[in-house]
Amino acid sequence: MGRSIMATVRTDQKQRALMRAVPNSFSRALASYFGSGPTDIPLAKKQHAAYVQSLLDCGLEVTILPADERHPDCIFVEDQAIVIDGHVLLPVPGHPSRVAEQPPIADFLSRQLNGFQVCGMFGEARMDGGDILRLGDIFFVGRSQRTNEQGIETLRDLLSHLGHELRIIDIPTDKALHLTSISSTPTDKIILAAEGYLTPEDFGELPDDCEVIMMPEEEVYGCNTIGFENGNVLVAKGYPTVLETLKQKGLKPIVLDMDQIREGDGSITCCSIFF
Ligand code: GLY
Repeated sequence: MGRSIMATVRTDQKQRALMRAVPNSFSRALASYFGSGPTDIPLAKKQHAAYVQSLLDCGLEVTILPADERHPDCIFVEDQAIVIDGHVLLPVPGHPSRVAEQPPIADFLSRQLNGFQVCGMFGEARMDGGDILRLGDIFFVGRSQRTNEQGIETLRDLLSHLGHELRIIDIPTDKALHLTSISSTPTDKIILAAEGYLTPEDFGELPDDCEVIMMPEEEVYGCNTIGFENGNVLVAKGYPTVLETLKQKGLKPIVLDMDQIREGDGSITCCSIFF
């Protein structure tokens, strides 16, 4: 038994995915890093539909919540809930415009995840789920524009309770939004990260069978992948070094055109919560 769920779920834990449909207001999504705002909403919907199909083809059960036109960023569900080993942490998202995206996601997860413990975040604590990366049972959190010290302490409390280690990585906030904007774990043994944004040392000492593989700076967007237990890996179109590296590792890349999602500063992992 075993699968892994990207970012906060190991590959052996990825059986279901929660997503949210693309609103017509997506052209107003926050965009300061990879993009300057989506311009072709029908194309964004088509690219999103191809992503959904790829998860279905990988054998996942996918639920798509309705879009909320009041929230242009609502497709980026990863930021709204962090699922870890039978627990759901509902963070206070780091950008005020994104806070009210959470209730339908929280409602859905609390109905689906019978027996899961749900924890909240309080006071000044802020966190986006996109700042959390999981390699097997080691967790990394980005200290970013969206995730602050108090948020990190809330996550640390939960992980200590679960017996997991948490390592903090400072995000270069002048050029990157989240930790998962610049790195990912296509397997439970591999971290892909972008030169010019991160170094292998940022991740600290890893178990002997794990490695950090650095990608060229210009392929930073391609460093965001989703890996599954059977070796399938979702990867964005247009990043040849990333693609070749995944193949060399014996993985099976599934290439997705993410151009319009990227325009809204969203990467592949941003569009799903796995559980
Ligand atoms: N557009 C995604 C975000 O800024 O959160």
